[in-house]
Amino acid sequence: MKIKAVAGDIAGHKCEALIVNLFEGVKKPGGATGAVDSALGGAISKLIARGEFSGRKGETAALPGGGKLAAGRVIVVGLGKKEKFDAEAARAAAAAGMVRARSMKVRGVGAALTGAGAGGLDPETAACAFAEGAILGLYKFDKYKTKDAKDKTSEVGISELAIVTNDAAAARAAGKGIKLGEILANAANAARDLVNEPPNVMNPAELASRARAMAKKRGLKTTVFGKKDIERMKMGALLAVNQGSVNPPAFIVIEYKGDPKSKKTAAFIGKGITFDSGGLSLKPPNSMEDMKSDMSGAAAAIEAMDAISQLAPKINITAIIPATENMPDGGAVRVGDIVRAMNGRAIEILNTDAEGRLILADAICYAVSKGMSPIVDLATLTGACVVALGSVRAGLFSTDDKLAARVEAAADLAGERVWRMPTDDDYKEFIKSDIADIKNVGNRYAGATTGSLFLEYFTDGTPWAHLDIAGTAYMDKKTGYYVKGGTGTGVRTLVRLALDMARG
Ligand code: BES
Ligand code: MN
Ligand code: ZN
Repeated sequence: MKIKAVAGDIAGHKCEALIVNLFEGVKKPGGATGAVDSALGGAISKLIARGEFSGRKGETAALPGGGKLAAGRVIVVGLGKKEKFDAEAARAAAAAGMVRARSMKVRGVGAALTGAGAGGLDPETAACAFAEGAILGLYKFDKYKTKDAKDKTSEVGISELAIVTNDAAAARAAGKGIKLGEILANAANAARDLVNEPPNVMNPAELASRARAMAKKRGLKTTVFGKKDIERMKMGALLAVNQGSVNPPAFIVIEYKGDPKSKKTAAFIGKGITFDSGGLSLKPPNSMEDMKSDMSGAAAAIEAMDAISQLAPKINITAIIPATENMPDGGAVRVGDIVRAMNGRAIEILNTDAEGRLILADAICYAVSKGMSPIVDLATLTGACVVALGSVRAGLFSTDDKLAARVEAAADLAGERVWRMPTDDDYKEFIKSDIADIKNVGNRYAGATTGSLFLEYFTDGTPWAHLDIAGTAYMDKKTGYYVKGGTGTGVRTLVRLALDMARG
C-alpha cells in the first residue's frame, strides 16, 4: 500500500472511498466532515439524527458518494470522546476506517486530516498515527491458508491511501509523519510475522536466519553464536534450558552503529523462547497453546533494529537474542539442578518453566561483559504480570528512575502502555537459595517482581529496565487495531526510545 499526503479541498478529492471522522456526540459535523456532509446534502447529519451513528470509538458507517462529492463512497469513523482523543485514538480510527474500506473491496482510499479530523494533533503527529493505524489495522497472517488460496488471488487489497490536508505546509508535515508511521508499523508487522509462525518453523535457527536477512538488507553486522560458541562462553543457564530439546540454541547479536565515534552502546535484549512447553515442570495443555509467542521479546528487538537502521539516530545499539526451545526430553534439566551463568553465579533451578529468566541472565551477563549500557530487555516473562495488568499494559521494572521515565515516555508515544511495578530489595529474599547464589523461582506472590529481580541480579549495577510483555504480546481475539495473534508490541517503544536516547 502506497501512502501519500496531498493538499486540497476534501469534497473535490477523487478516490473510491473517502474516510472522514466524527467525535462522539457531535450532532452537526464541522471541518472536513462538515464539508463532505454539505456536498452530500446533509447525509451524515441525517445518519446522526436517526441515531444510526454516534461517533463511538471504532464505530463505522458507509454512505454512497454522489452529489457534489468527487469520492465514490464515504466511510465515517467514530473518534470517541473529544476530551479523550490522542494519537492512539487516531490509530484506532484509522484501523477501523481502513478495515471497513477493505471489506468494501476498494483499491484507492482518501482520508481527511484537516480541521477537526486531526483532532487538535499537529499534521505530522496525526498523519504518523493514521499511517501506523492503517498498516497495523490491515495486518493479516494467512500464508498457511492453502485451501483459500484461490480466493486470495482474486482478493482486492487497498493499494493507495491519500491523506488529505488543508495546505501545502500541512501536507509536507504530514509526509514526514507518514514516513515515520510506515517504518514503525511495517517493523511491528514484521515482528508479528515472526511471532505468528508456528513453532515447528520458527525454531532458533530460523529466528537467526530471519534476523540475518533483516540485518543484511539494512547493512547491520550480525553474529550468530551456535551451541559450541555458547559452551565456550560458559552460558550455562541458556544451555540448561536448551538441553531437553533436539534443536540447538542460537545466541544472536545485531549491531547498529549510528554514532561510531562514541564507545557507548545500549543493549536491547529480547527473550527468544521459540516454544515454551515448561520443560519437566510441564505446562497444562491450555497454557501451552500460545507458547510459540514466547519469542515475542526477541521479535521486537530484531524488528526494532530494522526501523532504527532506517531512521538512523546518532546512537549505538546492539540487539541481543538468546534463543532456544524449552522442551522436556530425557536429557532435560531437572528440578533441583544447579547451573552456572556466564558470570559464574550458581543458579538453583526449582521450576523449569521459569526458563526465560535463565536465558536472559546469560544475555545480560554478555551485555555487561561488553560494557553495554543501558540494558533494556523485553520478555514474555510471567503469568503473574498478566494477572496484574491483563493485556492492556506491560509491566515496567527498573532500578533506574531516569531510564524508567524514558521508557515510559517512549511507550506512551508508541501507544504501547506500560505500568511501573515495584523492585524493592525486600522482594529479593524470595529468590535466595539455600545452597546456591540464587534460585529461579520465588513463592506464589509478587511473581512478576521476583522474576524481574532475578534479572536485576545479573546486571551488576548497569542501568537496566525490563518490560514484561506476557500479557500484551499476543491477543486471543481481535483487540483494537490488533487481530488475534502476535501484536509486535515493543517494536515501536524501542524505536521511540532509541530516537529519544540519541537526542542525549
Ligand atoms: N512464558 C511464560 C510466561 C507467560 C505466561 C507468557 C502466559 C505469556 C502468557 C514463562 O516462561 C513462564 O512459564 N513463567 C512461569 C514462571 C513461574 C514458574 C515462576 C509462570 O508465569 O507461571
Ligand atoms: Mn515458562
Ligand atoms: Zn516462557
